[in-house]
Amino acid sequence: MEHYIVKGGTHLCGEVEIAGAKNAALAILAAAILTDEPVTIENVPDVSDIRVLAQAIESIGARVEHPGRHVYRIDGAGVHDLPVDNELIRKIRGSYYMIGALLGRYKHAEVALPGGCTIGLRPIDQHIKGFKALGAAVTFKPPGRVEATAKNLRGTHIYMDMVSVGATINVMLAACLAKGITVIENAAKEPHVVDLANFLNSMGARIKGAGTDVVRINGVERLHGTEYAIIPDQIEAGTFMFAAAATHGDVTVTNIIPKHMESISAKLKEIGCDVEESDDAIRVVATHRLMPNNVKTLPYPGFPTDMQPQATVLLGLSSGTSIVTEGIFESRFKYVDELTRMGARITVEGKTAIIDGVASYFGASLKAPDLRAGAALVIAALAADGISEIYDIHYIERGYEDFPEKLRGLGGEIVKVSTPEEGEQAVRRMQMSIVGGTGMTERGTA
Ligand code: UD1
Repeated sequence: MEHYIVKGGTHLCGEVEIAGAKNAALAILAAAILTDEPVTIENVPDVSDIRVLAQAIESIGARVEHPGRHVYRIDGAGVHDLPVDNELIRKIRGSYYMIGALLGRYKHAEVALPGGCTIGLRPIDQHIKGFKALGAAVTFKPPGRVEATAKNLRGTHIYMDMVSVGATINVMLAACLAKGITVIENAAKEPHVVDLANFLNSMGARIKGAGTDVVRINGVERLHGTEYAIIPDQIEAGTFMFAAAATHGDVTVTNIIPKHMESISAKLKEIGCDVEESDDAIRVVATHRLMPNNVKTLPYPGFPTDMQPQATVLLGLSSGTSIVTEGIFESRFKYVDELTRMGARITVEGKTAIIDGVASYFGASLKAPDLRAGAALVIAALAADGISEIYDIHYIERGYEDFPEKLRGLGGEIVKVSTPEEGEQAVRRMQMSIVGGTGMTERGTA
């Protein structure tokens, strides 16, 4: 019954520190078992997807220590190739990185099929094509496991049929201990692909071209231990930047790499926000009602699909008609029904949402349908008039560390409650502050 209660109408203001990138951390934690030596990984976000993967790595014999909130020490010496399977691992997408890592290191992997958000079919044919090209036999075993086995892995040329972050990363994991050179063409260029390459190179791998669409992996005999700090989370930073814009606030996201935020910053400028960049921070200021715009999600450096629901929420408050087109997944507009109940005017046709901006949303009882859409609904609730309740927040906690706490640090009125009674009390408190006129601030309008 855990859920958030949010009172909208406050302009978010202040500084928020961004955590390490969840999607990079999932790949890097899995990669740690490619060596028998200890690996120390810093700046790991404290989110549930990471805890589940760390548990899975421990369950196959690795020593996993967690000496600080954001630090993991993994010693893969004790790993044995038992199946990676439990109820939780089937729920996270990053579980598939265990296939590439175990296949690379032990030439054998048996891993439960990936789950994750319900945003489409999400096949893994390109991962499998890559493993097969490297010389592995891949079979599907009941109940829903993938088994990959090879005598030897041999470097090869792989042309990906579509740009896939997961397949690029998985082939990199499997190929760095293969014999000879592997070339991945049409590779994904996302920051976490580069981060994984840097991590593997710090373990002695020889990977070039990560961040371009051709990645070359020169196989090595063995990898060694390392210490590494993960890059900041592009999507967490983008979520707070859009929350600042939606609430007509003034927020600085810190501990980020502004270069990774370019498509997001550009969109905010186009719709009328002031965006100031410094070395490792970006300040977003929104004082007027925002202008409409069009967004199409694309592989990096295009606008990220993981920011698509946040973009729809923001454009839903703009002063005209906007179009948001999903260019990566086949179904990623499930949250629109929830948003409509808050007063948004949105029509979805296939992969396109046509949005007629409204002056404001109103509070409602909502269900997070997945991780990013859940965060987007929180933004909508913070911008809305009145009080919202948001359920199924376990999706949000998969990828956002201390989300309500960080929002409260910016002045947002959001609390997490565990029981219906706590929820009722929080709603009453918030209602009283509205009646008493203590909490609401004037919304900026054009
Ligand atoms: C990763 C991210 C996810 C993000 C997505 C796109 C992780 C754990 N997740 O997901 O947050 O939304 O990148 O930036 O890092 N496809 C195939 N066959 C394949 C692989 C992919 O058809 O074998 C398709 C997918 O269905 C999708 C597109 O290719 O339509 C891109 O998917 P991909 O980049 O692989 O996403 P994920 O790695 O699953």
